[in-house]
Amino acid sequence: MLYLHVDSGLDSWRKAFHQQQPDLQVVVAGDDFDPAAVRWVAAWNPPEALFAGFPNLEGIFALGAGVDAFVRRDDLPADIPLIRLLDAGMAQQMVEYILWALLTVQRDFDVYARQQQQGIWQEQMARSMGEMRLGILGLGALGQKVAQQLAGLGYKVAGWKRSPLILEGVQVLTGDQGFDDLLKQSDVLISLLPNTTQTRGVLNRSTLGRLPQGAVLVNVARGVQVVDEDLLQLLDEGHLRLAVLDVFHQEPLVQGHPFWRHPRVVMTPHMAAATLPEPAVEQVLGNLQRLASGQEPLGLVRADSGY
Ligand code: GLV
Repeated sequence: MLYLHVDSGLDSWRKAFHQQQPDLQVVVAGDDFDPAAVRWVAAWNPPEALFAGFPNLEGIFALGAGVDAFVRRDDLPADIPLIRLLDAGMAQQMVEYILWALLTVQRDFDVYARQQQQGIWQEQMARSMGEMRLGILGLGALGQKVAQQLAGLGYKVAGWKRSPLILEGVQVLTGDQGFDDLLKQSDVLISLLPNTTQTRGVLNRSTLGRLPQGAVLVNVARGVQVVDEDLLQLLDEGHLRLAVLDVFHQEPLVQGHPFWRHPRVVMTPHMAAATLPEPAVEQVLGNLQRLASGQEPLGLVRADSGY
């Protein structure tokens, strides 16, 4: 028996499970079932103490890429696997979102929006894709696909990863020196980093200050990676041209936060890449099969790295 917890679209999730594996019993809050019979939980935004209610859990599936809401909690048994989604339809959405941000700056749509408000008719000198140097922080399942697709379109793409990797068409940098080099050469810095103790606050005055004059930040990872005051200062000082933010320290972003009305911040409500039930359920079921046959599931979260 699998217990399902999602914030929205419950019917689509149940339907996807039912269509793909009719014999798997899927239960949700409010159903009549014995908690001791639950062996698996598939969840997004799991409420506090959720896992403690199931004494015979064998594994937990996070229905998203980031597992920060699953680790660092005291109801999660340490000895059972936590498995996250790899891509599951999210990479394509990330490409689309980032492309929108890139085209905004490449073709100066942010400038034209300001000009329109001021009644100014003035053509800007557009750059070509090949003139735009992108730096992607985090080359995991999402980062790799995003990097390769954007490189395929003609952008100049570099990426940073903790461990070395060969990725065709993409300059891959690692280590502290590589991180520094990436910052210095990125006209657009895109964060797809996981949320770990090492990445919290990593986008701060010192790091963002090393980006070239007029650079742009796109954060589609987690809000806690940004030191908001530092970002605002760099935008106000004109060092950074624009910040495109999908994620925030607190979501929804509190009313009155300077990001809401800042002329150089474009924000969206954590929608860059939604989990799609069909590919997500396919991945969960594939991993259940792998576990049943003694294989390691894909997307198994490592305790040491936290992702
Ligand atoms: C969304 O933010 C996710 O981690 O999947």
